[in-house]
Amino acid sequence: MYTHKRPLIQTELPGPKAKALLERDAKRMSTSYIRPFPFVPEKGEGAWIWDVDGNLFLDVMAGIAVNTTGYAHPRVVEAVRRQAEAFQHVCFSDFTSEPQLSLAERLVEKLGGGYRVYFGNSGTEAVEAAIKIVRYHTRRPYIIAFTGAFHGRTMGSLSLTASNSKYRRGFAPLLPGVVHLPFPHPYRPPLGAPPEAAGTAVLEHLEHLFKTSLPPDEVGAVFIEPIQGEGGYVVPPEGFLKGLRELTERHGILLVADEVQTGAGRTGKFLAVEHEGVQPDIVVLAKGLASGYPISAVLFREELSSWTPGAHGTTFGGHPVAAAAAHATLDLLEEGLMENAREVGAFLLRAFEELKAKYPRLGDVRGRGLMIGLDFVKDPETREEDPELRDRVANRAFAKGLLNLPAGPSTIRIAPPLILSREEAQIAVEILDEAIAEALV
Ligand SMILES: Cc1ncc(COP(=O)(O)O)c(C=O)c1O
Repeated sequence: MYTHKRPLIQTELPGPKAKALLERDAKRMSTSYIRPFPFVPEKGEGAWIWDVDGNLFLDVMAGIAVNTTGYAHPRVVEAVRRQAEAFQHVCFSDFTSEPQLSLAERLVEKLGGGYRVYFGNSGTEAVEAAIKIVRYHTRRPYIIAFTGAFHGRTMGSLSLTASNSKYRRGFAPLLPGVVHLPFPHPYRPPLGAPPEAAGTAVLEHLEHLFKTSLPPDEVGAVFIEPIQGEGGYVVPPEGFLKGLRELTERHGILLVADEVQTGAGRTGKFLAVEHEGVQPDIVVLAKGLASGYPISAVLFREELSSWTPGAHGTTFGGHPVAAAAAHATLDLLEEGLMENAREVGAFLLRAFEELKAKYPRLGDVRGRGLMIGLDFVKDPETREEDPELRDRVANRAFAKGLLNLPAGPSTIRIAPPLILSREEAQIAVEILDEAIAEALV
């Protein structure tokens, strides 16, 4: 594909054109946008992207884990062109058509059958739909989510989100009946548990709540990200998801896997729950499903589809052009991108473990496939988070042309397009190595 030896930064960052655009942006755009780096894109190819001043970056964030096939993959571009020429919007809520219907059939097949599909445009919209399916079908008032979770920013999904109180500040009251459990973070275990018991401690805590304050027969669902994304790329301990599945089944509670960030091959399997052999009642997909085109899908067990026509719908959901891009993305995933995510991901994990041995304040390296977190600490003994060090490393790496993104309080997320080659991965490691060394001075 497109191979470059190294990013090329030829101006100060931001360069003059980016600076002018950022000044206009600061005047006109909503102050809720974040702008973690002064980066203004112009054109991308594969895992590489030029800014408006001609600086070339290697991208290890893929538009927040979205651009599965990299920038402008010819197969995706061709699928989009063909569908745009055929027809664009008719409204899938009212009229069925081939690209979306066959996409739904294909997704259900990937889960082994037995599900129905609802299409939206974004992750948050799909989480809202999942909440409504749970409410409508179970008529139970409570929902369980986890601290550290990110499920979106609209009022329903925000009620589940608990990765940072800044997302919630100023918006209460939120949806009533949401109960947050601590996430079994193996590196910083909750409830005073030792790391190896983090998962069982959380499950026991939930059973304790069921006995004391939360009637289990009034809980509709547990929403969980199989690997927490915005919360800091946290992989739960092995066996936890299975234990949670058993517990929810025992109490007739639905298990909702929010695979918005983990799904579509990112972890080396189509869904992250596959690593643990867990079958959720509801699966939510968005982000990487269509390589950058807006579409989301809720897959829910057939028997949960008790709602009636008009109970839910949306104008743009299941846009045919996005559906065509999703088909092209699935083709490429099936032709080897998931294998590549596994291979290059394993290579990166090994390389980052070496960096961890070299720099003890890179306290934890964790992840699956091409979803890897680098967690920086003040002291490896106490494991106290070090947001300042993380920011310094992220900024140094950006200045060297590595387009990266933070996640959680002290983590850099590595979520490149799944086409990333081993050579490109090696470049990312070298840049991070230099960035950490400089940030520690
Ligand atoms: C796990 C998860 N769920 C839901 C969302 C919300 O998706 P969107 O930003 O498309 O609304 C995100 C976004 O980061 C996410 O990571």
